[in-house]
Amino acid sequence: MTRNTSLLFKPFVSEKLQLKNRLLMAPMTRSQSPGGIPGQNVVDYYRRRAEGEIGLIITEGTTINHPLASGDKNVPCFHGEALSGWQNVVSEVHAAGGKIAPQLWHLGAMRKAEDSPHPDLVSMGPGDISPMGEESIRPMSMEDIEQVIAAYAQGAADARRLGFDALEIHGAHGYLLDQFFWKKVNQRSDRFGGSVSKRAQFAVEVVQAIRAEVGEDFPIIMRFSQFKIGNYDARIAESPQELEQLLMPLVDAGVDIFHASQRRFWEAEFPGSDLNLAGWSKKITGKPGITVGSVGLDIDFISSFAGEDAQGGGLDELLERLEHDEFDLVAVGRALISDPAWAKKIHAGQVAEVTTFKREDLASLN
Ligand SMILES: Cc1cc2nc3c(=O)[nH]c(=O)nc-3n(C[C@H](O)[C@H](O)[C@H](O)COP(=O)(O)O)c2cc1C
Repeated sequence: MTRNTSLLFKPFVSEKLQLKNRLLMAPMTRSQSPGGIPGQNVVDYYRRRAEGEIGLIITEGTTINHPLASGDKNVPCFHGEALSGWQNVVSEVHAAGGKIAPQLWHLGAMRKAEDSPHPDLVSMGPGDISPMGEESIRPMSMEDIEQVIAAYAQGAADARRLGFDALEIHGAHGYLLDQFFWKKVNQRSDRFGGSVSKRAQFAVEVVQAIRAEVGEDFPIIMRFSQFKIGNYDARIAESPQELEQLLMPLVDAGVDIFHASQRRFWEAEFPGSDLNLAGWSKKITGKPGITVGSVGLDIDFISSFAGEDAQGGGLDELLERLEHDEFDLVAVGRALISDPAWAKKIHAGQVAEVTTFKREDLASLN
């Protein structure tokens, strides 16, 4: 690494969100909240990252108050008794000088009923096509859609009430909102299906309902991706024009920041330009962009499950892109699992002290 890393530690100042630096913790599911309740282990886990100088922590996906949202009894939920656990997380992160946003999650057709809190209930999606081709699912009725929108709005109101600094909507990786974005599984003929912008309509209504609850000044982050879990070549926008049709309605609905999930931040999104997905979303919307994907690693996160090693994308390239304002913020995932003090060490120039990520670290997620 040859570049000066100070750019990563320049404060981020926007109308609704101010952060001490450009580094975010990426949302990462841990499944360590029995019964959906985040306990002291969750508090300690996030406090360690706040002490490690991360500017904004985005929590693991936490499921909204809908019976079909969760596929895992150990994934924290974001309603009922779980909220006092989250209150403790917020207090400790703030006490350590950090900021935090919950990632509000509904798995939709990706939910595995048998592992979920309600194994007798059939999962639902935009239609009856399962993204993984395994689960049997049912298409969502208007009533289902209204219930999910209301559950997102309730989660958002709770996020604000508990003192979170922002919230992130999980619209990526093939989960419910992304299922609506994705033509392969969304073949609806009502106002939620059809053109790219119509496929954005469900997320638009979720964002509108959230905005109505949290008011104008609370930051809303939308995470989205082209790839899906189990389908890494999937795309929801084939061109910058299609990306515009997807993102601009979300801007009009109230999204403040886009979190463009990629496996490798250095990969160009569309032919003819080096811009990555966050770069395109910033260029199109004018909204701040968060990039993510193998920052501080030399292996990408899918191959780390599969056991491959792939080289590429050092911090130098990240800093160069940041310097060119391609994006504003950088989310770090696995590097922060292996070393909660990753940011602090990079800031202090102690790169040699960083504990590098190993696949085994995914087994403990401490
Ligand atoms: C163990 C693990 C759990 C994850 N869980 C989530 C999640 O709950 N929500 C989400 O949007 N992404 C999730 N991701 C993806 C990460 O947020 C991130 O985009 C990905 O790990 C790439 O960043 P990295 O290369 O810095 O790890 C997860 C990744 C890992 C490794």
